[in-house]
Amino acid sequence: MNRVTDIDTLLDEVVTLPSLPSTVIQITNLVNDPDSSMADIAKAISGDPSIALKTLRLVNSAYYALPNKITSVDHALSMLGMKVVKNIVFTASVFDTLQCGEDALLKHNVACGMAMQYLMDSDLLDKSKFEHQDEAFIYGLLHDVGKIIFAQHLSEQIGKVADLCSKNPFTWTQAEKEIIGVTHSEVGARLAENWQLSPTLVATIAGHHDLNECTESGHVMSAAIMGIADYITYQAGYPCSAGISVSLDNIFWETVGFDESDVADVIQKVADSTDAINDLVNL
Ligand SMILES: [Fe+2]
Ligand SMILES: [Fe+2]
Repeated sequence: MNRVTDIDTLLDEVVTLPSLPSTVIQITNLVNDPDSSMADIAKAISGDPSIALKTLRLVNSAYYALPNKITSVDHALSMLGMKVVKNIVFTASVFDTLQCGEDALLKHNVACGMAMQYLMDSDLLDKSKFEHQDEAFIYGLLHDVGKIIFAQHLSEQIGKVADLCSKNPFTWTQAEKEIIGVTHSEVGARLAENWQLSPTLVATIAGHHDLNECTESGHVMSAAIMGIADYITYQAGYPCSAGISVSLDNIFWETVGFDESDVADVIQKVADSTDAINDLVNL
């Protein structure tokens, strides 16, 4: 494949983006519909055995650390409520869609989901500045979804991107521009847009390496938080591929209002979450 000029050419000629499983669309609609009941939602989840199974595995994984095993979708709904279960179903289906054979990449995304969650749990952030706290894990899980798409479709080019990064003072994103012509942030944001995810999530994926890429100024804070969660993930020992590091522009720290020394505890928490991370990767 030759370098392309823009994302539309890439999507027309080389890369096909996966669609969101119909079960997830159906469940999201049900959760948003005030007339639907828990029983309707349980029925929709149970109607897709693969998603139902993954949902139960996820609920019972070390990440949720629930005291008792949850054995049915009804049980999960009554324990956790519709909104939480909707996020779990979404997460389970993302795992289903994004199996890419790149263990490090999947671990990086899962660990970043945890970094986001731990940042939300910490006292560092003024919570009023990030409205999507209950979706923090999903933000992290999806931030590098573009890299997973590239790994699935452009493995040869990604090898060249890694080479360029190791030999020259290129960042990963600059090397993607040079070799592919489009960045993983652009592709990830387009996927989130196609899946009709929230505008904040789309902008957060677009801007997680460069806040100028945020399509609206109201989303700069969540993109900055995402960039910091990404940085934490690398520092905790979960790079997307071996030997790759990430540098973070000062503007990210200035935007969130704390600095590197403040996140030492969060880095340690992610580093200590190996069991939960492995559990999710092997879902
Ligand atoms: Fe990234
Ligand atoms: Fe990342």
